[in-house]
Amino acid sequence: MAVLLTGGAGYIGSHTCVELLAAGYDAVIIDNFSNSSEKVLERIREISGRSVVCYNADVCDESALRRVFSENKIDCVVHFAGLKAVGDSVKHPLEYYQNNLCATMTLLKVMNEFDVERIVFSSSATVYGVPKSTPIREDADRWCTNPYGWTKYMSEQIISDTAKADGNMSAVLLRYFNPIGAHESGRIGEDPTGIPNNLLPYITQVAVGRREHLNVFGNDYNTHDGTGVRDYLHVVDLAKGHIRAIEYAQKNTGVIAVNLGTGNGFSVLDIVKAFERATGIRIPYKIAPRRPGDIDACYADASLALEKLGWKAELSIDDMCRSAWNWQKNNPNGYGE
Ligand code: NAD
Ligand code: UFG
Repeated sequence: MAVLLTGGAGYIGSHTCVELLAAGYDAVIIDNFSNSSEKVLERIREISGRSVVCYNADVCDESALRRVFSENKIDCVVHFAGLKAVGDSVKHPLEYYQNNLCATMTLLKVMNEFDVERIVFSSSATVYGVPKSTPIREDADRWCTNPYGWTKYMSEQIISDTAKADGNMSAVLLRYFNPIGAHESGRIGEDPTGIPNNLLPYITQVAVGRREHLNVFGNDYNTHDGTGVRDYLHVVDLAKGHIRAIEYAQKNTGVIAVNLGTGNGFSVLDIVKAFERATGIRIPYKIAPRRPGDIDACYADASLALEKLGWKAELSIDDMCRSAWNWQKNNPNGYGE
């Protein structure tokens, strides 16, 4: 029995693949490499000593998906595939709705044809929009502020309705907070194209000399030091959360939404200090205007993940910073030459 990872060559998918192989699962990937490199596959093999079947194809391509399901005995799908840049989604909404929703619907249709009943979906804390209070529980109001967020909101709805219509289906909607860091080997990690949107990749590119300084977007937020607070979690902890979710889906039917975060909030300046402490490298920064759409604070109530999945984040902010730096310094240009 194998687990199919859509978008499995990406940042979170590749780390999840490594953890799945280590736990004894077989893994199959389908990825169109729109935001990843085929080099990832070799690195996964190198770390795990096991190979992975990979299809270079689009999840929106029904016949390609049928081929994947007919050539492999798939027990469960983890659906990572999707476009994920918030700002880009505001500029190109149709591309985001087309890719992300089409991928979810095509996948569900073909899963149904092949009687595959279990799905774990990569959702996001973005579905909580501007939270009324923190920490955020799964039953908090949901409302999105950008097309990317709406694709997650709508995919959650599409998956839930499909699972409800089929009493045997099991769907785990994982709402990730802010994954950072990299595998301890330094062989796989986050490799954004162009100027990084996210904080940690930007910091590591400053550290490696690719950028001059960090722009801290706003220091007048309602937080302990005025800079934005988020719930950063180690991507390896996050990857392990997927294994717990697969196990849960094997034992339960129905739909459940679960936050994956640490439950702790750190500000931008906390992260800068943590990175400096963990690596000994100074990160020059300048206070810049607020980034449109950003919120004061966003962190999880992580108790449901412990209760239902038996999962809790274990690695520290120092571990996250150290591993992110280990990846960046060993791969100054990511997977590129
Ligand atoms: P990523 O871009 O590194 O990985 C996504 C992968 O999906 C890429 O390899 C890309 O090539 C592939 N892909 C995209 N559209 C596809 C399609 N139509 N067919 C086949 N492959 C396709 O992103 P990631 O950070 O690993 O995120 C994985 C998932 O988690 C995404 O759905 C993302 O929205 C979600 N998520 C990420 C974060 C984060 O901060 N990284 C936070 C919350 C949720
Ligand atoms: N920040 C900076 N400078 C930068 C980049 C970020 O100050 O160069 C700040 C932001 O203003 C924010 C914090 O660092 O306060 C974190 O920003 P990120 O862009 O790393 O993360 P976000 O919380 O904005 O967004 C991330 C993902 C989204 C996802 C969201 C909720 O990028 O896809 O978490 O899960 F929707």
